[in-house]
Amino acid sequence: MVTMKLIVLLLLCCLLSSSSADDTVVTKRRFPKNFKLGVANAAPQIEGAWDTDGKGETIWDHFARTRPEMISDRSTPAVACDSYHKYKEDVALVKNMGLDVYRLSIAWSRVLPTGKIDSVNQLGVQYYKKLLKELKDNNVQAMVTLYHWDLPQPLQDEYGGWLNETVVDLFVDYAKLCFELFGDDVQWWVTINEPKQVCNAGYGDGRFAPGIVSRGIGEYVCNKNVILAHAKAYRIYDEQYRSKQGGKVSMVIDTLWFEPSSDNPGDIDASERLLQFGFGMFGNPIFLGDWPKLVKDRVAMRSKLEGFAVSRLPEFTQEEIKLIKGTYDYLGLNHYATHMASAAQEAPIGEPSFGADISTYEWSKPEWTKGAGDWFSVVPWGLRKLLVWLKKNYGDVEIVITENGLSDTSGTLEDDHRVDYFRDYISNCLDAIYEDNVNLTTYIAWSIIDDWEWTGGYGSFLGMYKVDFNDPERPRIKRKSADYFTQIVKNRCLVDVEDCTD
Ligand code: NOJ
Repeated sequence: MVTMKLIVLLLLCCLLSSSSADDTVVTKRRFPKNFKLGVANAAPQIEGAWDTDGKGETIWDHFARTRPEMISDRSTPAVACDSYHKYKEDVALVKNMGLDVYRLSIAWSRVLPTGKIDSVNQLGVQYYKKLLKELKDNNVQAMVTLYHWDLPQPLQDEYGGWLNETVVDLFVDYAKLCFELFGDDVQWWVTINEPKQVCNAGYGDGRFAPGIVSRGIGEYVCNKNVILAHAKAYRIYDEQYRSKQGGKVSMVIDTLWFEPSSDNPGDIDASERLLQFGFGMFGNPIFLGDWPKLVKDRVAMRSKLEGFAVSRLPEFTQEEIKLIKGTYDYLGLNHYATHMASAAQEAPIGEPSFGADISTYEWSKPEWTKGAGDWFSVVPWGLRKLLVWLKKNYGDVEIVITENGLSDTSGTLEDDHRVDYFRDYISNCLDAIYEDNVNLTTYIAWSIIDDWEWTGGYGSFLGMYKVDFNDPERPRIKRKSADYFTQIVKNRCLVDVEDCTD
């Protein structure tokens, strides 16, 4: 009986899948009927035109200009892909690939150059209206991020940016204005993109703009403020715009998958700590109402030993919990890579830091394929495990992968490694849907064109189209992955169309 079952299982496996280069068994199953595919990018990385038509300076314009040593090639986003002038060309690429969704971001300082509501820049407004119209005319859904890391510099100068609660209300004014101006043409809103990067790198270790170093303190103050900003914007949409505009609103949270390095409880705990201090830090308040207990306990324990009178992690009041809990219409996930997680000794008590609060060891197997940078380990099954973890923690919520893609440093047009990446990661998405009943409805790749990669400058590439940054015309040049992606969008399947199964 058991042998019979085994044979049936093996047969089923062969019928429904085929093997890929790195051991992923690529599913032959067709995408679910309403499964959507798209591509993403963000204003500060592609638009350029940094001070054109009245746009104000952002913290990234300022950071790159004033602290060039922080950017690997000392470049700035001043011109980037010049999408401000070439947006029609970009939308045409999206259209020609047959995609359902285009994820873009609005530059706060293009609409409100000072960051404040009394400074509306009509030319900036017109730009986004034209871009959204272009998408509508081409029957492509718009997913619009309100904050993709580009705080107007005046709000950093005047208030200290996300460390100040005043910025929460200024963000809410800006979000409301965007709902009012653009909401009729937006199907999906993202309030804040990757709050962990905004806070940890921007206000913790200072690697990202605005470069504030306040380890173990700044991150947490910033976390609370971005969560409040998100929640207040969500409530306004819900109360004032949802009934007439019918869009969905959420925050986009990033995390790696952390695979426990053994079955030992310490290693399993290490994985859970990394996930809770990462995704859970934002997912728990929004989906469940408060910081993860594990995080609260650890930061309180270490704060006490460090001599702080109260925990470095600010509490939410009951009123705030009520405001925040449930402010999601979908779960937005950015995911690129996986690390191993191992137990480590408790970090010595001394200077506070986020890393010490977690006190774990994360590492990458040398045999794993890497993207640009050793941290970027390509482990497609990590995404499937992560999706299952999300379902277990947050329930049967609609999940949207809002970013996934491969960076390299060669920029080659023959990007077979990117083809493999997309095939194997999407295959794991389909397995999560079909085998694990994960409610994943949409997959959005990063990215359609190369871009300015923050501190990585113009030196790492994620586009299905290369952008020649040495040419003033910034031509878009097709890579192999663009053809592959177009083909899977058309076939709604990862393998040759005659091999696809329902
Ligand atoms: C995540 C960020 O949201 C995006 O801006 C960045 O370019 C990608 N990661 C790739 O590094």
